[in-house]
Amino acid sequence: MPKITFIEEDGNKKIVDAPLGLSVMEISQKHDLDIEASCGGCLSCATCHVIVDPKDFDKLEEIEEGEEDMLDMAFGLTKTSRLSCQLIMTEELDGLVIALPGAPIDW
Ligand code: FES
Repeated sequence: MPKITFIEEDGNKKIVDAPLGLSVMEISQKHDLDIEASCGGCLSCATCHVIVDPKDFDKLEEIEEGEEDMLDMAFGLTKTSRLSCQLIMTEELDGLVIALPGAPIDW
């Protein structure tokens, strides 16, 4: 089973199972991580914003215009920010490292 490491706001690292085909947002919700995702994944809220480890960023699907527009409204935007509801888990993403906005990151 592929894994994702989430870095939480307090710096805690949580390694979780990441079933193929689920979005990073759905996976985070299964493990009670603090990602609001208020629109439920329909690309109309930006509250599912996460920061992707730069080493993993190029493995992600290209960002589409709708995500880019919505992402502009996210708080604490970075160069490797994405909306987690748009990131679908694949074999290639095994080992993905994701920080929640506000988490201390040292990459
Ligand atoms: S959950 Fe609303 S845009 Fe991702």
